[in-house]
Amino acid sequence: MTTMTTRSRILGSGAYAPEKVVHNTDLEKLVDTSDEWIAERTGIRERHVAADGEAASDMAYQAALRALDAAGLQASDLDMIVVGTISADMPLPSCAAFVQKKLGCMGVPSFDVAAACAGFVYAMSIGDQFIKTGQCRNVLVVGVELLTRVLNWRDRTTCVLFGDGAGAAILGPSDDDRGVLSTRLHTDSTYAESLYIPAGGSRERITETSLAEQRDKVHMVGSDIFKVAVRNLTGASREALDDAGLTADDIQWVVPHQANMRILNQVSARLGVPLDRFVLNIEHYGNTSSASIPLALDEGIRDGRIKPGDLVLMCALGAGISWASALVRM
Ligand code: ACO
Repeated sequence: MTTMTTRSRILGSGAYAPEKVVHNTDLEKLVDTSDEWIAERTGIRERHVAADGEAASDMAYQAALRALDAAGLQASDLDMIVVGTISADMPLPSCAAFVQKKLGCMGVPSFDVAAACAGFVYAMSIGDQFIKTGQCRNVLVVGVELLTRVLNWRDRTTCVLFGDGAGAAILGPSDDDRGVLSTRLHTDSTYAESLYIPAGGSRERITETSLAEQRDKVHMVGSDIFKVAVRNLTGASREALDDAGLTADDIQWVVPHQANMRILNQVSARLGVPLDRFVLNIEHYGNTSSASIPLALDEGIRDGRIKPGDLVLMCALGAGISWASALVRM
């Protein structure tokens, strides 16, 4: 039997970053780059890198345990697991299946969402819909990425940008004015080949040539992404605010996807929300794709910046090009 509810809310959050930290100066030894160039052009100083043998589901599991603990729930209380990722443990089955196996909550629907950096907001929106219709009570949503495995460590235009990590949130029904007020999801495939991994899927098999040319690794035309990022992040943020009849002045915190500080500077200016109301950690994590929002959200909650009742705007954009926003009363 299902009971409709008005909205879902975040009951608890958790995050995990691998122990190993790689500083920009370490990358100076691998490619023709410098700490100054990376810091000035992106805002990144260091990033976490997964250990050999550590997989996306291992990181997601740690984040999920912390989120369950914060929510005061057990894995057996979950009705669904949605994982935003493009770097699952293996092509088949889903990362979510392995997260479920580790949590031991057999039988609950568990699946991945491939929306790149927008993955966590997509996952949250899906969880929110299932809770609103009453089909689920508690949903685990995760953003996890282990992109350092799919980087060409000889390509300075990509290898300096990304890091590994995981973040999770437990969504459950809200009985007051807190909760997910609005989510907006978009994809425009015009620039689908501006950020992609050409080989290893059904289009192009892995061959000796594709391996030699690193076509099984991330290829990016950064300027194409940059061009649309500011416009779309701002646009989706305004849509979420409009849906709720609110304005940028009402927001206490913006928790954005963190790809590049210059993008975030421009989003801040266009939205009219000063950067000191953004929860930022790109300096220490780099671009962790779908994990970046839940990593920052958890940091902001645990250090007391984000308080119950605060209005939080999340916005993300990545490969696809897919982008999304969510407005949440904590
Ligand atoms: N170190 C030193 N020089 C570099 C490096 C580096 N790591 N990388 C590039 N350069 C050089 C280039 O070769 C170029 O040299 P040239 O002028 O001699 O040709 C020069 O620096 C300028 O290159 P640009 O690409 O114009 O540099 P830009 O200022 O645009 O910064 C960057 C590049 C950081 C990639 C930027 O375009 C960006 O952040 N784009 C958005 C990326 C993004 O948001 N991705 C989406 C999310 S990821 C996901 O979905 C998984």
